[in-house]
Amino acid sequence: MLKVVVLVSGGGTNLQAIIDGMAAGRITNARIEAVISNNRGVKSLERAAAAGIPGFCVSPKDYETREAFHEALLSKVEEFAPDLIVLAGFLVRIPEAMVHRYANRIVNIHPSLIPSFCGVGYYGLKVHERVLERGVKVTGATVHFVNEGMDEGPIIAQKAVYVEDGDTPEILQRRVMEQAEWILLPAAIDDIANGRIEVQDGRVVRKDGGKE
Ligand code: GAR
Repeated sequence: MLKVVVLVSGGGTNLQAIIDGMAAGRITNARIEAVISNNRGVKSLERAAAAGIPGFCVSPKDYETREAFHEALLSKVEEFAPDLIVLAGFLVRIPEAMVHRYANRIVNIHPSLIPSFCGVGYYGLKVHERVLERGVKVTGATVHFVNEGMDEGPIIAQKAVYVEDGDTPEILQRRVMEQAEWILLPAAIDDIANGRIEVQDGRVVRKDGGKE
């Protein structure tokens, strides 16, 4: 059984997709041990509580330095000895020590087709604002392993979503979530929990021969 810790910052719809995926058997061999938020009072923590999952807040506001926050976050994560850390809308940069300790054991969902619209400053609604400003006609989401770079780790899966006339950032965000994120992230966790993927030479390969 893969022990999963989920890190969140806000609404937690991706967390909900994971919880629902586990309840429905779309994700097998995995269990969420804890949900950790960097923000207090967020819907994500309510979703965790409703599912009977322990929830915690480790806020940078409670620490004098970034280093102290990083240490606190890492030690909270380590309490659960996770096999996998899932960044499900976790909008702060994670400590480098965590990246090294959990190499190829941290996954992130990003709301664009990486390497477009990613990197510093591209998170949450801002991604969709920039997509609309640029006028691209296709966007999407990417689930990837986390390395030292910003949105640069090995890509596990991507799904394209059309931009439509009249889209606002909020409408587009919702479509990308519904058509891509809430499908890709649970599927990636299921693949990892069932040993279907591995990282070779910085790229993700499927052991079942490339079938998605
Ligand atoms: C999601 O769209 C996720 O892809 C994005 O934040 C949103 C969180 O929503 N993550 C990033 O932008 C990471 N760079 P949620 O809290 O409802 O899952």
